[in-house]
Amino acid sequence: MIKMNQHYKELKSSYLFYNISQKTQQYCDEHPGTHLLKLGIGDVTLPLAGEVIKALHGAVDDQAEKETFSGYMPECGADYFLSAVNSYYQARGVQLAQDEIFVSSGASDELGDILDLFAEDNTALIMEPAYPAYVDANVMAGHRIVHMPSGRENGFVPDPDESIDADLIYICSPNNPTGAVFSREQLKRWVDYANTKGAVILFDAAYECFIEDEAIPHSIFEIEGARTCAIEICSLSKTAGFTGTRCGYTVIPRDLERGGMVLHDMWIRNRTTKTNGISCILQKGAAAVFTPAGQKAVRENIMVYKNNAKVLMEALDTCGIWYCGGKNAPYIWMKCPDGAGSWEFFDRLLQETQIVGTPGEGFGSCGEGYFRLSSFGDAEDTREAAARLKKLLKK
Ligand code: MLT
Repeated sequence: MIKMNQHYKELKSSYLFYNISQKTQQYCDEHPGTHLLKLGIGDVTLPLAGEVIKALHGAVDDQAEKETFSGYMPECGADYFLSAVNSYYQARGVQLAQDEIFVSSGASDELGDILDLFAEDNTALIMEPAYPAYVDANVMAGHRIVHMPSGRENGFVPDPDESIDADLIYICSPNNPTGAVFSREQLKRWVDYANTKGAVILFDAAYECFIEDEAIPHSIFEIEGARTCAIEICSLSKTAGFTGTRCGYTVIPRDLERGGMVLHDMWIRNRTTKTNGISCILQKGAAAVFTPAGQKAVRENIMVYKNNAKVLMEALDTCGIWYCGGKNAPYIWMKCPDGAGSWEFFDRLLQETQIVGTPGEGFGSCGEGYFRLSSFGDAEDTREAAARLKKLLKK
């Protein structure tokens, strides 16, 4: 008889953002005509940059002519996309061979798919609070999970613990959900730990474009020793508004070997078998993000989100509420007022202010008592949300 993946039974019955959308839908059904102020899931609200749209239209037209038509794409990425990404890394002083970069359909897809490279009998170390897909994907893969809690005492940026033996280590910097960033020194300690233990770091760089401080690394490959222990997963979702369009990239250095196997070669084998690449139309649109005009346009959008974060931070400052993030990241991680639980505060905000946020507990049990606000909302809605927050928190 067919045997099912029993690990699915260990998952929570539904995914965090699905629960939130169910709850908000219920509220809207009970209060028809309500305009919700959406600061929950980190979904972008500004349209794609003009340069990207132009490239996408051009790519569609290319498909109409025999001379410019593309059939199957190279599974690991089109030359024009990979070289555009490579120049982006080079501009920051990170030297990669172009074939160490792989196109993807986005970071969340890739964070799960990459687990194909690793056997079931592995331990994943997840620093919490964490993006919940890390845990769920590892549960599905049958991995043992070590939850490493963090808190205000270490600025939500934990250091390695030599007494823990981990095989896979998730690092997200700038962090989702806390907005905390890892310094060069902190990342170096993790790189040294991974190389010593023979572990692999899965570095989620989805929010790198929000970094303002010059000293903060955008890529794990800015750290000496990372080429022998890390995979970097990045996406254009938050950088360039691709949450619905879908395109990202993954870097696997050729120097990364474990158990006598070269992970780069394994991933080529995986991609060439399991995918036919990413649509040429999307890759042409995505390559336009990295042109000078594309970069200027996406920076303008990022500045709108950064301004949203400022508006929210000012409201919390006025009310004396503790928070972190918001500066080098699009998320603000605040303490719930009056010792409220995070789902309790979620309900209160929704009922009294029609603001949707994300309860900290959804990112792991150490997130209880905290709440995440996203700066990806509409600018006018965010101003209104800040005003309502101030009113509520001053009560
Ligand atoms: C979030 O809100 O945590 C993110 O938008 C989720 C994602 O990127 O999939």
